[in-house]
Amino acid sequence: MADRAETTMEAPSGFSRRGFIKGILAGAGAVSLGSYEAVAQMISGPNARPVRGWGVPEGLVRLSGNEMPIGPSPRAVEAVLENVYSFNRYNRNRDIYARIAERHGLPVVEWAPNSFTPPGAWVTLGCGSSEVLYAVASAYLRDGAEMVEATPGYAGVFRVAEPNGGTVKWVPLASGFQQDLDAMKAAITENTRVVVITNPGNPTGVLVPSDAVKKFVQEVPSDVIVFVDEAYIEFSKNPEDRIGAAPLILDHPNVIVARTFSKIMGMAGLGVGYGLARPEVIEKLNQNKGGRPSMLSTNAAAAGMEDHDYQDRARKVTWDGQEYFSSQFDEMGIDYVPSQSSFMLINVHKDADEVVRKLREEYNVMVGNGKRRWEMDTWLRVTAGLQEENEAFMAALKKVLVSS
Ligand SMILES: Cc1ncc(COP(=O)(O)O)c(C=O)c1O
Repeated sequence: MADRAETTMEAPSGFSRRGFIKGILAGAGAVSLGSYEAVAQMISGPNARPVRGWGVPEGLVRLSGNEMPIGPSPRAVEAVLENVYSFNRYNRNRDIYARIAERHGLPVVEWAPNSFTPPGAWVTLGCGSSEVLYAVASAYLRDGAEMVEATPGYAGVFRVAEPNGGTVKWVPLASGFQQDLDAMKAAITENTRVVVITNPGNPTGVLVPSDAVKKFVQEVPSDVIVFVDEAYIEFSKNPEDRIGAAPLILDHPNVIVARTFSKIMGMAGLGVGYGLARPEVIEKLNQNKGGRPSMLSTNAAAAGMEDHDYQDRARKVTWDGQEYFSSQFDEMGIDYVPSQSSFMLINVHKDADEVVRKLREEYNVMVGNGKRRWEMDTWLRVTAGLQEENEAFMAALKKVLVSS
């Protein structure tokens, strides 16, 4: 068949494989579409169609939502199954507050009879960490109160602050896609109530060193909340970095940290996250939350957080995927931002709307669109998946880039 013949074709003479792709990316267009197709076939790997990802229909390669591709932790699954015949009750897991506090070196408090949450806790649970972000906005960002956040950034707090009359000062990233903490500090005014640091950043994947976060907390006015969203910090290469900002809470009543079970713990579909802060702050957040994570999700979370083998596997598949992506992007001459997170930001030098659309419509591959979400017109954000998903994405991307 033609496909087979094309896969064995040599690249046009005078082009190295790397140089050829680079030329295409730079817009060199002297080769006919037929040749592009031929070279695309030659450089490609498997199509998306035969790929079987966890929790998605066969053939769909979903690398858009920063989900964990290895399926859930077996211990979390067991915990769900153990409780599946009793969800006619409100019972939620009660150990989880203590386990979370212990994990982060914060005081553990006792439950009181008939209380919904342990009084005086340093932990609040949310339906995903999204609910903690919403609670921060609802509690502190109303009626002209100001927040400061880096842009491009996650912007989850502002989505809730804005309709309540909260305002924002966006602070552009510095070189190397770093959040510019000096500029963020300088952006604080007497109206500022919250500074959001997403660590590592989303969409950048760039980590703010913990020393820099500590210095920032020490230097900003103590009545400004420093909200550190650590959704992805468990993917950091250095275990020390995974400790994050929680230890600062002991000495700084203005620090709130958010974590989620959706990423490294592989429970995005269960919707559990938490906030850490001093008890008086936690109380305020609790007054500004609506939901309560369910019996099944809290039991799964309590079991899953002890499954360190799973978390190691999650880190490994992510790091392996990113190593593969990096080597491919290096070979293709595609710029990317080295990541300490579960996704990578890449510059394909083509219109991101078009590339994302073609990947989805022609190859069943989903990635994040930097243009749509962050006005980064030629950038994509791609989550590391299973190796076969990563290969299918790369194959599709190469074909889309040579035919765009
Ligand atoms: C930076 C960041 N914070 C918070 C969240 C919210 O996650 P969840 O509500 O699933 O815990 C996300 C989700 O993608 C995120 O990327």
